[in-house]
Amino acid sequence: MSETVLEARNLFKVFGKNPSAAVRRLKAGEGRTAVADVGTAAVIDASFTVNRGEIFVIMGLSGSGKSTIIRMLNGLHDASSGTVTVNGDPITGVPSSRLREIRRDRISMVFQHFALLPHRTVAANVAYPLELKGVAKAERLAKAEEILALVGLEGQGEKLPSELSGGMQQRVGIARALAADSDILLMDEAFSALDPLIRREMQEQLLELQQKLHKTIVFITHDLNEAMFLGDRIAVMRDGRIVQIGTPEDILMDPANDYVEQFVQDVDRARVLTAANVMERPRPVVPHTAGPRTALRQMRDAYMSATYVVGKDRQLVGVVTDRDAVKLVRNGATTLDSIIKPVLQSVREDEVLMNLFVPAVESPLPLAVTDADGRLVGVIPRVTLLAALGPGPGATEEITLPLMPMPQAEIDAVLDDGWTAEPAPSTSSGTRVETEEVR
Ligand SMILES: Nc1ncnc2c1ncn2[C@@H]1O[C@H](COP(=O)(O)OP(=O)(O)O)[C@@H](O)[C@H]1O
Ligand SMILES: [Mg+2]
Repeated sequence: MSETVLEARNLFKVFGKNPSAAVRRLKAGEGRTAVADVGTAAVIDASFTVNRGEIFVIMGLSGSGKSTIIRMLNGLHDASSGTVTVNGDPITGVPSSRLREIRRDRISMVFQHFALLPHRTVAANVAYPLELKGVAKAERLAKAEEILALVGLEGQGEKLPSELSGGMQQRVGIARALAADSDILLMDEAFSALDPLIRREMQEQLLELQQKLHKTIVFITHDLNEAMFLGDRIAVMRDGRIVQIGTPEDILMDPANDYVEQFVQDVDRARVLTAANVMERPRPVVPHTAGPRTALRQMRDAYMSATYVVGKDRQLVGVVTDRDAVKLVRNGATTLDSIIKPVLQSVREDEVLMNLFVPAVESPLPLAVTDADGRLVGVIPRVTLLAALGPGPGATEEITLPLMPMPQAEIDAVLDDGWTAEPAPSTSSGTRVETEEVR
């Protein structure tokens, strides 16, 4: 079970004259524009939980209420209604001294425009949260050096922030947030001010860092590709409301409404979808205990020139071709062993599509997809890979491009002209592959 670290329940935030009247009317079903006479409804009835160790992304267009939500998570804004809890302790309705403690010890924030202290050195900026905690100078500077190394800024501690590039300044911002050693990081458009290439680098670095540190991160962005790349789960916001919460795949494959569907049209699918999302049932597949006749029939029926061979427990063992199998049948051989060739290209099921193009091009068969234990769990024909990148759900249905198999008549001649039948393949090995005899 995943452990809930942060929970928001029925959060509302209205700026303006009369928040409580606005909340009452919103709860009674009035819309955002209808209540505009009493205030700006920035967040309307938002509920979600964030689990330990996950990156939870809140995504939406500018003005949709993202910053307002994240500021309620650490008490920089009080909620007009609803509750926020951190590890079960309420944040809403507690005195501001308590909120300061929580912000110092349990929740750190990284800002879009870095918010560094310009006249202090990089090391002093990073050490600042430790200064607030009363840690002695030598100790906090030592700690700052250590964290600077972690974010790739070794030896930069003596510089001033203005001497660093934007990307480096934001790494200082991240280092400062890490210095407090809090479990929760809130990042509000932390990479939005950086140019695209640097931004990409920072996204990758954040994931690397996260693999080491396992923080609980709430990351805000208006950029869908960034959301999809970083998020374990994503909450999509529109006009103050959360309209869908799900994994990147959920949101891409099963958008909750037209708004989300429109939004995800531009997403870079190749970086989000994985082999498991688009693979098809492997066919043909034969167990290594099968003989060449069974293999040939399977290939003929699937219009394929080769077949994957699997061992016990569906372990991917190799490939045999129709031409080699025909020779074996002609020689009267009953096992495939002598013609099984290694599989030169296979991919893991959690690999993103972007990384499948080269193996798919180099693989003579639809690309084999295996699980962590090396079992063949699916195949991806090249056409399927291309179709998966097109817009809209359902683009990946049932398209296969057979490679050029041997002429049917040639195979039939070999199978049907009275060669001795081979023994039925053993099923005792635990393989679950169908080897239905055709006739
Ligand atoms: N302090 C504030 N006072 C009044 N209105 C605000 C304030 N902060 C945000 N808003 C309004 O609330 C809405 C949501 O803003 P915000 O949470 O900043 O959105 P986002 O971060 O998604 O761009 C906007 O209409 C914005 O103008
Ligand atoms: Mg914002």
